Amino acid sequence: MKDLDRFAITGAVLDQLAGTPDPRLKRILESAVRHLHDFAREVELTPEEWLAGIAFLTAVGQACTPHRQEFILLSDVLGLSRLINVMHDARSRAEGATETSLLGPFFREAAPEVPLGGSLAARPESAGGKEILLFGRVTDADGAPIPGATMDLWQTNAEGLYDLQAEDPSVVDMRGKLRCDAEGRYHLRTVKPVGYAVPLDGPVGRLVHRQGRHGHRPAHIHVLVTAPGYQDLVTALYFADDPHIGSDTVFGVSASLVVSERMGLPDSPRPDLPAVRYDFRLSPLAAGATSGRVGADPSRMAAAVAAAEAARAG
Ligand SMILES: [Fe+2]
Repeated sequence: MKDLDRFAITGAVLDQLAGTPDPRLKRILESAVRHLHDFAREVELTPEEWLAGIAFLTAVGQACTPHRQEFILLSDVLGLSRLINVMHDARSRAEGATETSLLGPFFREAAPEVPLGGSLAARPESAGGKEILLFGRVTDADGAPIPGATMDLWQTNAEGLYDLQAEDPSVVDMRGKLRCDAEGRYHLRTVKPVGYAVPLDGPVGRLVHRQGRHGHRPAHIHVLVTAPGYQDLVTALYFADDPHIGSDTVFGVSASLVVSERMGLPDSPRPDLPAVRYDFRLSPLAAGATSGRVGADPSRMAAAVAAAEAARAG
């Protein structure tokens, strides 16, 4: 019997994993074990630190509710979500298609329908900010319009809070679903979003504080664009004048997604409002591919995982 010293233990675990029937799962677990052991050796992890790590992850799990996904937040602040997005883009985004950004923890599947030209501000108190217009087209990667594409948009209110943070499912505000017209055009009114801190009242927030980070995200509007035959586009538009545009706590900003509202834009359907024009370009969906969304509505996380497992099993 071999002595399991600080290096031999890694091989012993890999030997026991060797019979994992699913080859992809086997590869992921082997790599995770190798990196986890290397990490512990590199930092000479002590028993107290090991236990603190377990206590931290336990607290992250306990902070999750149907309205809050603390693990996604952890993934976001560690840059893992961005990395997964970037790698997914590299594999599947068509040249010329819009870059993706993070879905984040505040997406919800059920959003109210907003007619073209309508507003995301459903509650009078949220309409206190600066009203702006968002307009443009949804096209394919070459710029050909996609008729009838569906857009989900969600953002903070003037206080920098998402409706989900009220932890009351009956509160639905600053989000909406709209359908583009036959030429792929869309326009809607909203309130210019303000930057906000990621939720800092939980274990991930305490971690961010201990790292001396500001915890802020620059002002943005989340957008999910879907159309039959195209990959779901999960992205966001970031406002150039936000002081944290260059230091997003969750690393969501790409230069191609930075916008500014302006008066006098040609073709604006509401010339009386400062406007942002943005055309969203979708990648085609490869045969048999899944939507490729990184993240999910927190209340449907279990269903999303089950669907992913079923897709793998099938
Ligand atoms: Fe956000």
